[in-house]
Amino acid sequence: MQRTLIIDALNATQACPQLRVCGWIRTRRDAKGFCFVELNDGSCLANLQCIVDEGTPAHAALAEANTGAALQVTGELVASPGKGQQWEMRAQDITLFGLADPETFPLQKKRHSDEFLRGIAHLRARTNKYGAAFRIRSETARAVHDFFHARRFALVQTPILTGADCEGAGEMFRVTTLPPGVTDTSADFFHQQCNLTVSGQLEAEALALGLGRVYSFGPTFRAENSNTPRHAAEFWMIEPEMAFADLEDLMELGESLTRHIIEHVLRVCAADLKLFDSFVDKGLLERLTAMLAQPFARVPYGEAINILANSGRDFAYPVNFGTDLQTEHERYLAEEHFSRPVIVYDYPKEIKAFYMRANDDGKTVAAMDMLVPRIGELIGGSQREERLDRLTARITELGQKPEDYWWYLDLRRYGSVPHAGFGLGFERLLMLLTGISNIRDVLPFPRTPGNIEF
Ligand code: 4AD
Ligand code: MG
Repeated sequence: MQRTLIIDALNATQACPQLRVCGWIRTRRDAKGFCFVELNDGSCLANLQCIVDEGTPAHAALAEANTGAALQVTGELVASPGKGQQWEMRAQDITLFGLADPETFPLQKKRHSDEFLRGIAHLRARTNKYGAAFRIRSETARAVHDFFHARRFALVQTPILTGADCEGAGEMFRVTTLPPGVTDTSADFFHQQCNLTVSGQLEAEALALGLGRVYSFGPTFRAENSNTPRHAAEFWMIEPEMAFADLEDLMELGESLTRHIIEHVLRVCAADLKLFDSFVDKGLLERLTAMLAQPFARVPYGEAINILANSGRDFAYPVNFGTDLQTEHERYLAEEHFSRPVIVYDYPKEIKAFYMRANDDGKTVAAMDMLVPRIGELIGGSQREERLDRLTARITELGQKPEDYWWYLDLRRYGSVPHAGFGLGFERLLMLLTGISNIRDVLPFPRTPGNIEF
């Protein structure tokens, strides 16, 4: 007999004389003459209530089964007379797959702290909160693909092993096959230094200048030694790149993508989101709905600096034209001043990467960051410098060798076009969608300084 997922059993339109489901016991309650088992298989937040009559072989099979045990239940799906659920299952036959010793199984029915659950990341997907978080993660990824597919962006895969430092920040993980102590990189596997990628942008640009519109969605690695709730050493980035496009087009893309995802998740993950709204971040649903109600704000960096300087706030980091925005500034703008997502654009060139297109004022570049409430920077991107002479001069100005960028410069040498792209941090997006305040709790197995267990 086929196995039915609990989500499908709970959404049944009619009773069913025989159904088979599998799952883990969330709770068992023994009453006079029968036993209630709340079964969850991870397909949805809700449990399926199974009723097992005493004196049956099914009941005997349950003898030692407690919270955490894995079962298969075959039985009749009937309308539930009890409150709280439409359907329940009358068990006819039970197969026990695996027991969970109540003395040692850590997920007994009670509230556990996020810290505690991080220490048992291999088991936390079996809790309501993390099950919901990872289902939303999956649906969010689907929404990303749907969005780009509808706009005719080609999905591309950019390399994870690379010799370049796209962002120029030097926060890279080295990859080597040299024995410890040997430092001569010419003897290494690739005959030069190799790193894990911090961004697939440079390769995405090359592909966009052939395919027109591309996006990548993959893991990126940063060895920033910053222990914040918003930084992970391994995180996923969505990087669209568009040929024949400028900063204006890019801002539109970023806003539309963000809106599409919020809409999708509100529609498809209603039950899971309700859990977060009730227990993790009261007001989450209202905040997400409000974000859709009006256009995102847009403000040039210079004006953002004025807003911050005139805010009367005592920021830990003072603001001047030329300073990089810190999370406290980003959050003030998005949460308090604009009370919605805001796109800040035209940043001073000194605080942005070499590839961003120079504006005519000689001071700023066509960069854009999208800042969102409670998180700060969600998206970072720019129109790219497509003029060969300007780009070569900028690379030289920054003390780098244009030869090292030969293929990237070739893209400007042959058939160069205005183009633009951004990177959206997938985990930060999930924090926005769920109200989870620590990036470690939207990643199934987070990697942060000092943590690589699991
Ligand atoms: O602003 P970033 O550094 O931009 C780039 O890497 C560009 N090359 C992307 C492009 O234009 N194709 O990073 C993009 C986004 C940030 O806005 C942030 O959301 C996320 O990636 N991010 C991180 N997320 C989690 N942990 C970290 N350590 C992150 N660093 C950046
Ligand atoms: Mg950035």
